[in-house]
Amino acid sequence: MKTCKVAMLGFGIAGRAFSRILLDNHSDIAEKTGYDVQIVTISTATRGTLNKPEGIDLAEAVRAVEEDGHFDRNDSGYCEWSAMDVVDQADYDVLLELTPLNIETGQPAIDHLKGAMSRGRHAISANKGPIAWAYRELRDLAKEKGVCFYFETTVMAGMPIFNMADYCLEYAKVSEVKGILNATTNYILRQMELGLPQETIYENGRKGGFMEADLSMDVDGFDAAAKLTALLNVLMDAGITPDDIDRTGIGDVTTEQVMGAVARGNKLKLLCRGGIKDGKVWGRVHPEEIPASHAFSGEDVVAVVELTTDLMDRLSIVQYGLETTQTGYGVFIDLMRVLRETSR
Ligand SMILES: NC(=O)c1ccc[n+]([C@@H]2O[C@H](COP(=O)([O-])OP(=O)(O)OC[C@H]3O[C@@H](n4cnc5c(N)ncnc54)[C@H](OP(=O)(O)O)[C@@H]3O)[C@@H](O)[C@H]2O)c1
Repeated sequence: MKTCKVAMLGFGIAGRAFSRILLDNHSDIAEKTGYDVQIVTISTATRGTLNKPEGIDLAEAVRAVEEDGHFDRNDSGYCEWSAMDVVDQADYDVLLELTPLNIETGQPAIDHLKGAMSRGRHAISANKGPIAWAYRELRDLAKEKGVCFYFETTVMAGMPIFNMADYCLEYAKVSEVKGILNATTNYILRQMELGLPQETIYENGRKGGFMEADLSMDVDGFDAAAKLTALLNVLMDAGITPDDIDRTGIGDVTTEQVMGAVARGNKLKLLCRGGIKDGKVWGRVHPEEIPASHAFSGEDVVAVVELTTDLMDRLSIVQYGLETTQTGYGVFIDLMRVLRETSR
């Protein structure tokens, strides 16, 4: 049995959701791939870092963070390594970048990924910052070093967009992308259709624990712009950053506007659109009215992306549920792809 050693930067919602799937499938993975996957390092900002070359007890690590709030300081693997120390010094085959998004620069996640790949290690990112801010550089580094670099979780939390593009659309050219890429604003706009003002929706969302204290990244369209940038960079080699997106969020949208759209037989949606026209890349995130009968308007649609291609016309991936399991699965399936690629 071969061993695949994995280092995790970040052990929050995404890291623990991934860990649960890994724990549940450990023996299946070994049977299907011939690999024993071992988590050897887990780094956090405030809960300490575990580094155990012989493999961490993952179930215990999840329990410790969820019940005690931190790793056991008496554990023989407990240390104070920073994320960059892990990148540079730990003994791993695959690095998982699961730290929070820095919407303004994509750092320090870009440096984490560069550091790992420069050492000849495979890299997986759930963090969209690096794909939005430095995709070309990272893709080229992966190619130069002959390592895998995957990031399925970055847009629509694990929906198989990049895998579909790589495997099924390899010979088709994508000329345009369109979609609803931010689930939070889609939810807010739907609640506004019931006549609720934005402030009441935020208050309910925060009380219910499903909305962040700071919603500006969603409401002002930054998250959607970063995802659109990631799609354009990966699917069209656009070489742009979120600064190149023409962006308007939903902060100024009133209940009257939303209900006016409904009265006209439409829905107001924060639409993302982008493509290449006459050799020039363009990208736009704006609230727009679309017909209530449009596929994007469905009551149960959480997020959706539509690709326009030369050989396969238009095709869509629609996300109906939003569970942290999907986020974990995106990271997990990227890791399985690394195992498949490396056992060829
Ligand atoms: N949650 C989702 O559904 C989802 C979906 C798609 C993509 N993503 C992306 O996945 C990434 C992780 O999201 P999340 O929801 O898991 O976030 P989270 O719950 O806030 O967890 C972030 C983790 O990163 C750790 N961390 C922060 N700064 C660090 C540093 N400098 N070095 C090492 N560890 C550090 C945190 O440490 P502490 O535990 O000490 O705070 C925490 O463990 C983000 O980039 C996010 O955008 C998340």
